Amino acid sequence: MIMPDNDSVQAGKNFGIGMPQKNEGYFLKGSSHLEWGIKDRLSRVFCPKSGHSVMLAFDHGFIMGPTSGLERMDLTIVPLIEYADCIMCTRGALRQIVPPTTRKPLSLRFDAGSTVLTYLNDDCLIDIEEAVRCNAVLLAVMVAVGDRTNEALTIRNLTKTVDLGTKYSIPTLGVTAVGKELVRDARYLSMASRVCAENGAHVVKTYYCEKDFEQVTNACPVPIVIAGGKKLPEKEALEMAYKAISEGAAGVDMGRNIFQAENPIAMIQAVRSVVHDGAKPETAYKQYEKTKG
Ligand code: 5RP
Repeated sequence: MIMPDNDSVQAGKNFGIGMPQKNEGYFLKGSSHLEWGIKDRLSRVFCPKSGHSVMLAFDHGFIMGPTSGLERMDLTIVPLIEYADCIMCTRGALRQIVPPTTRKPLSLRFDAGSTVLTYLNDDCLIDIEEAVRCNAVLLAVMVAVGDRTNEALTIRNLTKTVDLGTKYSIPTLGVTAVGKELVRDARYLSMASRVCAENGAHVVKTYYCEKDFEQVTNACPVPIVIAGGKKLPEKEALEMAYKAISEGAAGVDMGRNIFQAENPIAMIQAVRSVVHDGAKPETAYKQYEKTKG
């Protein structure tokens, strides 16, 4: 039997009497009262120093098939992963092309359903144990506010995801899906984002809008990351990222504007400079041109 060696046990001396125990605040808005495991996972997505994140989204195939730039993800996406703070993809792509040695936090696409060929957002959820097996740090689910057919279904999916994720301390990312008949303005986006947050989303992904985006970020009690949307010229995409961050977004969850860029590796680095270092769009674009060259 191994017995502790009494001679080497030092009597405690440094009790810090008179010094109150440090109580650290938490850097993300709306997250101070969350459980330790959720905070730990959010701290892997968002840099505790800048409070920001560059998430790389390549989950498009689950509704769109082999989107331009994603035909061969082993060739186009894998080289980008090292520059991302977090990757967002389906469980299929994860197992098929993401090397398990990449050590990047995963925002797992947690819903699945109909494709662009039929009626979008008629989604179901995958198994929470799948998310645990994949070591997901975020569960991403679509929420279609204003969609007459599937609004209630997607809000149920969101609340179910929050309930399931909470059991394992995995936070939820509510992704606002804006139907073609809806307008991406501050009024709609702030409502959709707020609905996600009030239903328990820990982070919300939505679109940037030119007018009054600050109203969207201010009215949302949890961090917002913006989707990039359709491919823009690189300079414009950097301007959009800059304005979003300046107006209160905590990061980007960008896909096409990175992997469809003329030089995706240079682009993701330029986006990082904007998001983490506050680089002005002109500076980031010069950096893009230089790296590209
Ligand atoms: C679709 C998604 C995509 O990941 C999202 O749209 C991000 O990609 P992009 O920047 O290309 O818009 O969540 O629901």
